[in-house]
Amino acid sequence: MKTILTGDRPTGKLHLGHYVGSLRERVKLQNSNEYDKIFIMIADAQALTDHADNPSTVRENILNVALDYLSVGLEPAKSTIFIQSQIPALFELTAYYLNLVTVSRLERNPTVKNEIAQKNFETSIPAGFLCYPVSQAADITAFDANIVPVGEDQSPMLEQTREIVRKLNEIYGEVLVEPNIFLSSNETCRRLPGIDGKAKMSKTLGNCIYLSDDAKTVAAKVKEMYTDPLHIKVSDPGHIEGNVVFTYLDAFCEDKKTVAEMKEHYQRGGLGDVKVKKFLLEVLEETLTPIRQRRAEYENNPAEVMKILKDGTAVANEKASEVLQRVKRAMKINYFE
Ligand code: TRP
Repeated sequence: MKTILTGDRPTGKLHLGHYVGSLRERVKLQNSNEYDKIFIMIADAQALTDHADNPSTVRENILNVALDYLSVGLEPAKSTIFIQSQIPALFELTAYYLNLVTVSRLERNPTVKNEIAQKNFETSIPAGFLCYPVSQAADITAFDANIVPVGEDQSPMLEQTREIVRKLNEIYGEVLVEPNIFLSSNETCRRLPGIDGKAKMSKTLGNCIYLSDDAKTVAAKVKEMYTDPLHIKVSDPGHIEGNVVFTYLDAFCEDKKTVAEMKEHYQRGGLGDVKVKKFLLEVLEETLTPIRQRRAEYENNPAEVMKILKDGTAVANEKASEVLQRVKRAMKINYFE
């Protein structure tokens, strides 16, 4: 069996970084028809680990993220889209997995460490937040997922999941499937910089192009994109390293030959930013136009979207309950079976 599980926290709308880093890959995997099951999870419980005081944000973004999923081409007939908090088995599994993990191991998780620094939690780290990699291990194993397509920042989570799986299997017998990470093969896509040239496109940094941005907004954002500050006159030789416009062309343009020629021309001098940006905008619009069209179909029908989530959640519940039963049996806590 080849099973995929992945997901996102509903803390905001999804952007181009999510798209090239993970969403585009998911859709490709879905349409390859090589996978037996695909589960896509909206991780609202994980979002609450650092948004406990802001339930409205999480609630509103359930629909935003679902719309983003459907608009990029995830299809409910092929991919089960569901909501994490509605799957009780995940929380039971988490409780048992927590016994197999030390606090010091949790504190060493590089992604969690980064987030703690970023959020200025310092000494007031919510316990649930520190433990979210363990709940993520539950998310993955509850579906017997062996392939987890995610962005690079999630690789410490996969590593920790694999440790938990090995430990549990060692103690209770071969019960859990050990998952593998699936990263985008395009290096540029693994960490898309923001339009300001900063290392990462991120809502907090305010440097995103959202999948739901309209054409006018995208044009304005491309216009203000960071290029080469030393490239003043069109005739000046320009730099392409750190020049976001070229980075985005690498991530989005299928026509590698044209991009290579433009890079060469830019470096030689004589190619202006305005022209390159115009070309990038065309390329981005090729991606975004069909996404906007699909979004428009669903946007006017939130009830249909909620029905998709409800049906997906029922399917997910069935699978996760089966795996939970299997684990409980192995742990000898299946008293009434
Ligand atoms: N941590 C992921 C994120 O920040 C969301 C997530 C939760 C996830 N559980 C998962 C991703 C399981 C992959 C597999 O977006």
